[in-house]
Amino acid sequence: MPTNPTLGPILCIVGARPNLMKMAPLLRALAAEPALPPAMLLHTGQHYDHALNGQLFADLALPVPDINLEVGSGSHAVQTAEIMKRFEPVLDQHRPCCVVVVGDVNSTIACGLVAAKKDVPVVHVEAGLRSFDRAMPEEINRVLTDQISDLLYTTERSAHANLAREGIPAERVEFVGNLMIDSLMAALPKAVPVARILDAAGVSTPSVQAGRYGVVTLHRPSNVDRPEDLGAVLAILDRVSAILPIIWPVHPRTRAKIAEFGLESRISAERIVLLPPQGYLEMVGLMKDAAFVLTDSGGIQEETTALGVPCLTLRENTERPITVEQGTNTLVPRDETVVLAAVREIVERGGKRGRAPEYWDGQAAPRIARHLRGWLQGRGRV
Ligand code: UD1
Repeated sequence: MPTNPTLGPILCIVGARPNLMKMAPLLRALAAEPALPPAMLLHTGQHYDHALNGQLFADLALPVPDINLEVGSGSHAVQTAEIMKRFEPVLDQHRPCCVVVVGDVNSTIACGLVAAKKDVPVVHVEAGLRSFDRAMPEEINRVLTDQISDLLYTTERSAHANLAREGIPAERVEFVGNLMIDSLMAALPKAVPVARILDAAGVSTPSVQAGRYGVVTLHRPSNVDRPEDLGAVLAILDRVSAILPIIWPVHPRTRAKIAEFGLESRISAERIVLLPPQGYLEMVGLMKDAAFVLTDSGGIQEETTALGVPCLTLRENTERPITVEQGTNTLVPRDETVVLAAVREIVERGGKRGRAPEYWDGQAAPRIARHLRGWLQGRGRV
């Protein structure tokens, strides 16, 4: 089929840290798939710190973005509106054959919405996940992005029932597996050992040995934005760290809240190692040798399932139920007794081992590239 000369590149959007692990393998697969137009990478600038952004570009071998909207931080309304304002002229200029958005961050809905209104096909990767908790900003982003997408790629089969319930025709939805696991598998041989990470951070903790520590990550508003919630979390971590030492790479949002609420003194310096946000190869190294991970991240629930490392998710719900049903994930409330019992179970009996879900096999990106080629060709868009 001849290439349509009036249609431009596949415009791929990233904005926040978890987008980068998904886009890196996809860009490589799109470049390797014959007869596809070139991919162009646009960064909204939602995340801009070196630790949340630049370092990961290097770790994931991502190319420098062709375009950076440099929106920075702001309230949800300001950030989303600013991305939309700055994205519209880019879309007019480049006339992409489609826009690819990933995940559930503000950049995902902002760019998707602009494209949909301009009649540019929206392709959503990681579609159909639902926590059924509208208090999560990401849940709003997920539901709305899926409604305006023309093609929806899913990571687990539960997503198909969610999308069907919301009236999205099945022919728009394709099960392809999980790009996050493509990146994880590529990174594993290069993972940085925990001893090297602690050395580099200037931390001398002989008590931390491979297999004998927990990793913590927390950044959800529901855990960190109110002093009483964050205080309760710190009290739990204090008790957990009496069982095993903890390594905690602290998200900038969480670090700011700890300082704002004056909670620094509640963190035991001997048993809890606070680190700045880590690079991707460091994070994979920390997780793979951990006894357990305690988190509220979405991506880490998936990565620990793929690694076979027990994960305690400090949330009331998960949009990734397969990690609980088949993987190593357990939801735990912000309740000291429950969390401590779960940690003891892991330390004494090894915890959940689970298995890798269907299509979490490192091949999601080539699957998407192949399918997207057929889809675009079928619509005369390449
Ligand atoms: C965003 C995503 C969340 C994702 C997370 C991963 C939304 C609604 N949320 O949350 O789904 O799990 O990224 O990190 O899109 N900040 C910095 N440096 C940066 C970026 C942010 O210090 O490079 C600070 C700022 O104070 C900012 C705060 O972190 O106000 C929150 O950043 P934001 O992008 O709004 O949300 P995240 O909490 O990072």
